[in-house]
Formats: sequence, C-alpha cells, structure tokens
Amino acid sequence: LPFTLGITSPLLDEAMAVLQQKFNVRDLSGYRDADDLIEKARGCEAIISMLSDSFDEKVLSALGRHEQTPLKLLCNYAVGTNNIDIEAASRFGVMVTNTPGVLTEATADTAFALLMAAARRVREGEILVRSGGFTKTGWQPTMLLGQELCGSTIGIFGMGRIGSAVARRAAAFGMRVIYHNRNPRNDGPYTAVDFEHLLRESDIIVICAPATPQTRHRFTLNEFQAMKSSAILVNVGRGEIIREKDLALALQKGYIFAAGLDVYEHEPLIEPLLMDMDNVVLLPHLGSATRKTRMDMAMLCIDAIESVFSKGTIPTNCLNYRP
Ligand code: GLV
Ligand code: GLV
Repeated sequence: LPFTLGITSPLLDEAMAVLQQKFNVRDLSGYRDADDLIEKARGCEAIISMLSDSFDEKVLSALGRHEQTPLKLLCNYAVGTNNIDIEAASRFGVMVTNTPGVLTEATADTAFALLMAAARRVREGEILVRSGGFTKTGWQPTMLLGQELCGSTIGIFGMGRIGSAVARRAAAFGMRVIYHNRNPRNDGPYTAVDFEHLLRESDIIVICAPATPQTRHRFTLNEFQAMKSSAILVNVGRGEIIREKDLALALQKGYIFAAGLDVYEHEPLIEPLLMDMDNVVLLPHLGSATRKTRMDMAMLCIDAIESVFSKGTIPTNCLNYRP
C-alpha cells in the first residue's frame, strides 16, 4: 500500500516483520518534543502510538491538516487513550483506535501479581533471603506476616473488562467481591456499592479504571483514612487516579497496610518517598506485558490499518467514528 505508517516505538520483532512486509513503515522513535514529532511524522497517513506519547491538539492539528497527506488513523498501542485528545482528533478528521479485549487477562494477572506480592510481602521476603537474613535467623513464627486472602473482601474500582477479569480470579481465591463503577451494572454475580462503602468494607482495593476527569485524584489522604488499616491498594488503571504523595504519606503513617503499583501519576517519574518504602511493590507498567498479548495488540493495529486503507471501512475498535 502506498501510504506511510509511522510508529513511535519498535514493537516485537515478529510484529515489526509483519508491519514491514505489509506497509511502508517510518520509525518515529526518539523524537525530542512535540515539534520534533510533528516534523518526523509529517506525511504519515497512519501512526501507531504508545501510551507514553502525547497526541494533543497541537500535534493532531499539525498532522491532521497536512495538505497532501493528512493523518487519517491513529492506532494507540494500549486500551487506555488518555494520552490522546480524542475530541481534537475528531475535529481534524483523525480516526483513533485502541486495543481492547486482547490485554484483559494479562492485565488482570498483573493486578493479581501485585495483590499477592503486597499481601504476602513477597518483595521483603526476597530481599531478606538474598541479604542473608533468613540464613542467619532461620524460620520464625512471626516473620513477615501478611494478610490472608481467602475470606477477605476485594473492592474493584472500575468494573470493565479488566475489573471483571480480576473479580473472576478473586472469586476463585475465596474472596467476596464488591465493586464501584461509573455506571452501576446489574449483569454480574458481584455486588455494586457506593464509593464510601467500597473504601470502608474492602480488605483489598484494585483500581482498574481509566484516567478521566471523574477518576483523577479519586484516592487522596481522605480516602486512605477511610480505608481499613489492614487494607491493600493495587493500581493497574492509571496513575492519575491516585494522588501519589498522599499514598506515600498513608503508607508511612500506617493508614493502610501496603500497595502495589503498575502505573504512576507522573509516569515514568515516581514519587521519591515510595522508592524507599518496604510496604509498596512497584512495577514498570507491565500490565499487558506478555509476548502473546503484545503480539495480539499489534495484530489489532494491523487490522485497523487494513480496514481503513485496504477496505475503506471504519475499524470496529474506532473510538470516535461509528463503524
Ligand atoms: C496500558 O496501560 C493500556 O492502556 O493498554
Ligand atoms: C479495559 O479493557 C476495560 O474495559 O477494563
């Protein structure tokens, strides 16, 4: 196909091979700022973007209004699209797609990895063993005691695909599942509760919501004080949902027991206080990071590109135009 596809970061080798075989691929990686991105991407009619790229009004306007070859399609290699000004994209005629569905199970697994590591102090145990502490003291009845999962209550903030997949896992672990969702849904076996109730009743809270004006800073010191002092907070949604400084303070003061984070308020920067704390497990945004899922995400982008440029149709996962 004669159009140019820009890509802001190299994907898996197997995915790159498919892309290069099908399309005329231009590497946009390593751009310095918005102007540099605009310069590098000029003439691309399709772009695959990462969640770490900001496609704001300025970038979309420059690329979407290009005279000869305006940008037509922006495929975000993520399910979350808070890095894209979708309203501006629509204004400049750019279709935006994401990668829903294929990363649901991998991301729910990541939530559980964090949940279990935080509940059972996996990170501290690892450090104790490697530092020689265990060899010195041997088994102790009170060493690194954590929280029991079976019989506990998990509260899911954001009951979409990922939240539902976390709920399924939790039920299999013998946990009672409650949730809070923007629109209460009545289609599942779990109990919808209001936000206050979720904070008060949950032994574990897992955030699976996207970043929106409504979810931004929903978790601040007030909310941490309302939670149980034995509670664990996990975030696989978006960092902005938590006021990170407040979380550090809450962990320091013992308002909650522990936290497990995959996403950060100012990603990839991390609140320095958190870096030195024992009761928080930190991952580098690995939610969807399995080989299978990252390959499936690439295939969804390829499907979207082929819909637009080979078939002349709107992709089924288009967020701003109806297929
Ligand atoms: C990852 O955070 C995604 O939105 O896909
Ligand atoms: C994301 O895919 C969600 O709906 O949770």
